[in-house]
Amino acid sequence: MSRSDSPVLQPFTLGDLTLKNRVVMAPLTRSRSSVAGVPPDFAADYYGQRANAGLIISEATNISPQAVGYAYTPGIWSDAQVEAWRRIVATVHANDGRIFLQLWHTGRISHPNLQPDGGLPVSASAIKPKGTAFTEDGMKAHVTPRALETDEIPGIVGDYRRAAENAKRAGFDGVEIHSANNYLLEQFVRDSTNTRTDQYGGSIENRLRFPLAVVKAVTEVWGGGNRVGIRLSPATTEPGKTPLDSDPHATFGAYVDALSDFGLLYIHTIEGVTQQTRDVPDGVDFLDLRKRFSGAYVGNNQYTLDLAEKELAEGHADLFSFGRPYIANPDLVARLASGAPLAEAPKPYWYGGGANGYSDWPGMDGPVQIER
Ligand SMILES: Cc1cc2nc3c(=O)[nH]c(=O)nc-3n(C[C@H](O)[C@H](O)[C@H](O)COP(=O)(O)O)c2cc1C
Repeated sequence: MSRSDSPVLQPFTLGDLTLKNRVVMAPLTRSRSSVAGVPPDFAADYYGQRANAGLIISEATNISPQAVGYAYTPGIWSDAQVEAWRRIVATVHANDGRIFLQLWHTGRISHPNLQPDGGLPVSASAIKPKGTAFTEDGMKAHVTPRALETDEIPGIVGDYRRAAENAKRAGFDGVEIHSANNYLLEQFVRDSTNTRTDQYGGSIENRLRFPLAVVKAVTEVWGGGNRVGIRLSPATTEPGKTPLDSDPHATFGAYVDALSDFGLLYIHTIEGVTQQTRDVPDGVDFLDLRKRFSGAYVGNNQYTLDLAEKELAEGHADLFSFGRPYIANPDLVARLASGAPLAEAPKPYWYGGGANGYSDWPGMDGPVQIER
């Protein structure tokens, strides 16, 4: 049954951008870049094939060498990286798409093998995460990170500023600050991972100081909040199973209020635990966050067209991001519109490798043709 008249698939005005539909391609790390963090040429095919989304959010992209926490992920600090991204953005634009760059610092979710000179990963506090890191030598157990010195923090804000400038040079339509999934910014926000006693720890106001300094720097580069979004995961427990915050709603309510004051374009909210569940065990109220925020609300996590239509009708969200469905369905919007079944990407294709399982997924009617 055709679903082409679905309200989710109609144009949407996001700030000063007109999007073709309310479908957002969620950021997807695919670990296809070089050891120097340069995306491959075939990444332009991959993103160009997916320009049917109203908006593409790029895979998370490291703001500095210290930010790296996964092997073969791209960066945006060197000229070679900017040049490679410029080709990707040009291909998305040639196919009438829009693309934002996701700005990333993994903090403690890293490993000395991935750090400059083999140093310790950095974080708000010296608290070891559960789990393992994907390094060039395979999976390695996480280590206890080094707590950042107070006087190092402005330098990291400066790295975000440079990354935001480089994103602009590469031609991106905007940037998304990755403040979700317990990477560096969220490590400062949450009181279980931030036990600092300086002006960056303790009260909610102090825990938000560094993330908001990043937001300030990035919005200054982009001439205000109109092309700057942010990703949040108020209900996540990652990288474990226990709540990260003694009062997540108070923390994220204050965060969203402050983000509103910056006039940010959207909050991109992971509703539940990324990929795992839409349950919200710790009492976060997403609708309250949406109402408190002045910009648009992008919902994410396990969306289908049916669920997106329901949430739109109930006024819970403006846009809907799809992650895993975009891996094996480059023409996702056309498939949603026609009610066609979705292909599933086997996990071995998710991270690492070359063009195979990445930019060679066919559309419903054969290879997806793109303008170059
Ligand atoms: C292979 C893979 C890579 C991901 N990489 C990122 C990333 O780089 N940045 C990010 O914020 N989320 C990342 N995520 C989370 C997705 O953006 C999304 O939140 C999640 O897949 C749930 O949405 P879905 O049910 O539509 O897949 C990744 C998820 C997957 C499966």
